[in-house]
Amino acid sequence: MSNKNTSSHVSIVGGGGHIGLPLSCYIQNKGYQVLIVDNNIESINSIRKGKAPFFEEGLDKNLKNALKGGLTLTNKVGEIKFSNFVIVTIGTSSSKKSIDLFDSLINQVLKNMENEASLILRSTVTENDIAKIKKNKHYINKNIKLTYCPERIAEGSAFEELGSLQQIIGADNKENYKIIQEFFLSLNIKTINTSIKYAVFIKLFSNAYRHANFSIINEFYNIAFENNINFSEIKNIATKKYPRLNKIPMTGYVGGPCLPKDLETFIKSYDVNNSLLNKLSYVNEKYLDNLVNLCSEVFEGKKIIQLGLTFKSGSDDLRGSGAIILNKKLQKKGFEVLAVDPHVNKSEIDFNIFDYQKIKQRTNNILIAVNHSEFSKYDLKNKIIVYGEL
Ligand SMILES: NC(=O)c1ccc[n+]([C@@H]2O[C@H](COP(=O)([O-])OP(=O)(O)OC[C@H]3O[C@@H](n4cnc5c(N)ncnc54)[C@H](O)[C@@H]3O)[C@@H](O)[C@H]2O)c1
Repeated sequence: MSNKNTSSHVSIVGGGGHIGLPLSCYIQNKGYQVLIVDNNIESINSIRKGKAPFFEEGLDKNLKNALKGGLTLTNKVGEIKFSNFVIVTIGTSSSKKSIDLFDSLINQVLKNMENEASLILRSTVTENDIAKIKKNKHYINKNIKLTYCPERIAEGSAFEELGSLQQIIGADNKENYKIIQEFFLSLNIKTINTSIKYAVFIKLFSNAYRHANFSIINEFYNIAFENNINFSEIKNIATKKYPRLNKIPMTGYVGGPCLPKDLETFIKSYDVNNSLLNKLSYVNEKYLDNLVNLCSEVFEGKKIIQLGLTFKSGSDDLRGSGAIILNKKLQKKGFEVLAVDPHVNKSEIDFNIFDYQKIKQRTNNILIAVNHSEFSKYDLKNKIIVYGEL
């Protein structure tokens, strides 16, 4: 670990979350003095003891190093006053409640920042959020240096991608860009410069585009299903040694903490009407309804073992999980669904989670909603299997 940067103090507001915590550890472990500010006391206490509140590859090891190197934590925003760099990573969305919380936190942050310090927005924001900051009296009077540096990592790959992805720096003047470019270069992260306006569009477009890309394949699945065509077979034959279709994504509900909400924010922010984008959430809802119909067609009886509840394989994150929506839809159709997920913390969910070995005799109907690697070791011989992702 280098200690060349210890005179620069960095505060990360929202630093106990999925984006903030890996980033805090990464920066601390590059030799800065990092202060995590988070209003979730439970998370803070757990992180202080070296226990991350969620799973992220490599986080335990990085957190241990960061704590050893002097990472500190608080729930008081006022403590950011000694920081040259304040990074904001709290959760954002286009709901009124979330916008009001963001505005109020930003006002508190600006009120407590040192004159001429740098405010780096890393939460996903809109042009409207930026416009409000630029009118804030503390921002104006203190000559705060504002940049928008969107987070673009995938959950689960934070430590690999923080060092390998190019960092977009949205800045409105060369001076602010230079200061933040130097900061990221000191972390061994390469940068690309653009305006704040363009950085906002780039981040929202990227996730709206990814949503569209994953949804289109679900639309073809829906059409095939409704015409009694086995889409899995179609896909296998169509893509076999055919390079022009080799990048087709898997079918599967487009969920998680980012894509659905960022699509919605994109639509609202740029006033998108009567566009393909407005239909994507309907396509995904219909995809799940078709999975429920498939379960009704192929399963014997009304009992199902559902494997996987998180929003993607290998993760413990339940936010925006299609597998949970599917579970509820199946129950509504009269199925008894026994859920199995070795990644889920039982206290985070309001229904029972079972151990597969203890319930495997109770039914032959298996729905693999999320394909966690552990499931490949389960004995699924003679079972009727429906896949949530193809
Ligand atoms: N999760 C992802 O994969 C991902 C990827 C790229 C970008 N993003 C964006 O990053 C941002 C953060 O997402 P996340 O998944 O880390 O959210 P999160 O909910 O996991 O973390 C947010 C953290 O902020 C804290 N917080 C909330 N209000 C606060 C306040 N007033 N004061 C101090 N702390 C507060 C919470 O306690 C939590 O620890 C969002 O804008 C999201 O869109 C997320």
